[in-house]
Amino acid sequence: MAFEYELMHILLLLAFSTCCFSSIHTSTTTASLGTSKSKPHRLVSKLIHHRSVLHPHYNPKETAKDRMKLDIQHSVARLAYLRARIDNGSLISNDYRASLSPSLTSRTILANLSIGQPPTPQLVIMDTGSARFWVMCTPCLNCVHHSLPIFDPSKSSTYFAPCRTPCGFSGCKCDLSDRFTFNVNYADGSSSSGTLGRDMLVFETADEGTVLVPYIEFGCGHQIRYNKDPGYNGILGLNSGPVSLVSQIGRRFSYCIGSLTDKNYNYNQLILGEGADLEGYSTPLQEHRGFYYITMEGISVGEKRLDLAPTTFEMKEDGTGGVIIDTGTTMTYLVDDAYKLLYREVRNILRQSLKETTFENIPWQICYLGDVSRDLVRFPVVTFHFDEGADLALDPGSLFEQVTDNAFCMVVGPISEFGLGSIPSIIGLSAQQSYNVGYDLENGFLYFQRIDCELLSG
Ligand SMILES: *[C@@H]1O[C@H](CO)[C@@H](O)[C@H](O)[C@H]1NC(C)=O
Ligand SMILES: *[C@@H]1O[C@H](CO)[C@@H](O)[C@H](O)[C@H]1NC(C)=O
Repeated sequence: MAFEYELMHILLLLAFSTCCFSSIHTSTTTASLGTSKSKPHRLVSKLIHHRSVLHPHYNPKETAKDRMKLDIQHSVARLAYLRARIDNGSLISNDYRASLSPSLTSRTILANLSIGQPPTPQLVIMDTGSARFWVMCTPCLNCVHHSLPIFDPSKSSTYFAPCRTPCGFSGCKCDLSDRFTFNVNYADGSSSSGTLGRDMLVFETADEGTVLVPYIEFGCGHQIRYNKDPGYNGILGLNSGPVSLVSQIGRRFSYCIGSLTDKNYNYNQLILGEGADLEGYSTPLQEHRGFYYITMEGISVGEKRLDLAPTTFEMKEDGTGGVIIDTGTTMTYLVDDAYKLLYREVRNILRQSLKETTFENIPWQICYLGDVSRDLVRFPVVTFHFDEGADLALDPGSLFEQVTDNAFCMVVGPISEFGLGSIPSIIGLSAQQSYNVGYDLENGFLYFQRIDCELLSG
């Protein structure tokens, strides 16, 4: 029996190891099988933001104020992590040793991916700042209170993990039971360790068929260390480290973030591989220390271009400066010179009409009494300009956020306030709302397309 099992996997292996990426499309209708030859199948996964009713930690009692406090805490943890990464030099190769700090990661966005046969849905953190893809697996030490179903490799007919299969990263060690081990340790003391396995990913298509992507390597975590139920099954690292899913699946991906605040919004989505949406304006993309950097050239508020020195966002030789596009933080943090001018301009515009207020006595946070959707109708669009003419336009809903029923704050802050020294500026998820963002790692370009994500579904 064991032999048959092995044989089947070897056959699978032979069938799919010839190319970096293959997919099988199964559908109840032959029509869609027919079209499957001409168009790449879209590997689409819904994204669930932390305020969504679908999020495992959705709390109807959580107030806007609680949310903002947690968002700020989470952003601070992310910045500290970034600082540590810069201090430790290139961590792409070291990804299994240090990754994002999961203690507050339930504030990030989750992708719903299915693994195995029969397919088991897994909610994993979408993280453009790490490489490893891992999920919790049974038997699991310390997953007792976990609220989501844990992946059981012994129940998936397509799971396999012997050392004979090639191992995608340099630190592979074969243990006594013929398994490659993996181990990720996080800055906050939590960790995940287990075996490296391979199984298929299963995506649903718009016409209710499925696309199977076999032979995907991922970490099967049997020993998890964390304090409380993290509200996710694992982490989907999307940088281009040799082991990452994007490297296995076609070096392209795109995500569309329509809204991060509407609890019922259900069109945020991630597309992996060939079918990724690379549309709109593009700007050169580079990867350093496992983060995605783009070249920012300036900021406009309405028609007015802020008077920033050309070197403001320049990347320095010591690894400081530069601008990262990130999915691990909701807020945006700008180098102080840029923040100050933006802050001044926003105050000038709102001085006449709204009354300033503070939030939790955070000195840099600029807040007003009022309502984002009611009082900012005529507020100008703030545009971040990038190399080669790509723009990211932030309307008031992407620049400000309601913190109480009658107060809102700007969700852009200065990086100096965190006592972390000089770190790169970070464009967080809030600023990416209303956009489809496409990553073409093969050619080194990032695409920004302003679009209603609902139009991309289907
Ligand atoms: C994840 O996807 C599965 C399969 O489509 C679905 O049954 C499940 O409800 C989804 N989970 C969430 C939280 O959206
Ligand atoms: C950075 O390196 C030091 C020394 O090697 C190590 O103790 C620390 O945990 C590392 N930090 C991260 C975030 O990897």
